[in-house]
Amino acid sequence: MTKVMRSVVTGVGGYLPDEVVTNNDLAQIVDTSDEWIVERTGIRQRHRAGPDQPVSDLAVEAARRALAAAGRTPEDVDLIIVGTTTPDLTFPAVATIVQRKLGCPVGVAFDVQAVCSGFVYALSTADGFVARGRSKCALVIGAETMTRLMDWTDRGTCVLFGDGAGALVLEPGEGDGSTADRGLLGFALRADGTKQDLLYVDGGVSSNGQIGHLRMQGNQVFRHAVVNISEAVMAAAGDAGIEVADVDWFIPHQANQRILDGVARRLGIDESKVISTVAEHANTSAASIPLALAKGVEDGRIKPGDVLLMEAMGGGLTWGACVVRL
Ligand code: UT7
Repeated sequence: MTKVMRSVVTGVGGYLPDEVVTNNDLAQIVDTSDEWIVERTGIRQRHRAGPDQPVSDLAVEAARRALAAAGRTPEDVDLIIVGTTTPDLTFPAVATIVQRKLGCPVGVAFDVQAVCSGFVYALSTADGFVARGRSKCALVIGAETMTRLMDWTDRGTCVLFGDGAGALVLEPGEGDGSTADRGLLGFALRADGTKQDLLYVDGGVSSNGQIGHLRMQGNQVFRHAVVNISEAVMAAAGDAGIEVADVDWFIPHQANQRILDGVARRLGIDESKVISTVAEHANTSAASIPLALAKGVEDGRIKPGDVLLMEAMGGGLTWGACVVRL
């Protein structure tokens, strides 16, 4: 049988900053309540990075944990891709800052900007290096300080987001091209720039020179999420050659428990197979999938050999899905 190279996940790690902000804390600053937030989103709390904690610090912690789990050291790393929409600086890329802080040798390092879909985009991009033999040890990281983009007078958005980072180590592994192979088996990425107004930040380097605040027409995004994610999931499953019924764990982007439930229902996935962290983490954008994966691995639910289905939607609009056998 023909041998094929796969991008195999050999380690996973997550990091959440120490400070926890509860719904009741937010009810002190905007007209909201714990009851409303829990009922409409499932969110109970979120973590917030300290004022002196840039996103690269979160990414470095998650990366250290993923490398330890993989039995690798920073010296082994030849590729770093960070999915983020909240970089330390306009440039250089967070990935190069992570490279420096970890002490990795000269290699390839860059960021991917696909907002909440950033991790799915980054993982699919890394496959182009790892599965082609261009990288022997890659770090794929989703890291965000979304709380820095909030308008703290807008109750429709400021209650939804949190900070955190998740990372995984990808290494090449030989397979026979079947669905029994370990590694990234398939993916589907999508973008529709005409939907920009539904979710964006109203500032930027070459527009008004400001950082800006996140703006969202939540109910419109909600509708797109449930419909479009299902299509991308089916496309990714088709690319991988699996049926959605074969999936062991569904690891969706953690924006809203109602979206998680709606997508799982549409796809016929039982809720016992859904990894949900939205109650404790809120929406950490590109970090939410690797954080949820790390939690599932740490608590022993997700085991080597399991088939994982990951999906996300975010600003752009962008969306996509990946199928991985761990
Ligand atoms: O990660 C990127 C993708 N993002 C998402 O997937 C987010 C998708 N959207 C959502 O999760 C939901 O649409 C929200 C949670 C943002 C909002 O829930 P909703 O059920 O769609 O509510 P709504 O926007 O239709 O607003 C309903 C009401 C409004 O009041 P009126 O106009 O009916 O009087 C809002 O002003 O709820 C009000 N509201 C709030 N009330 C208390 C909005 N935010 C709050 C709040 N507390 N925090």
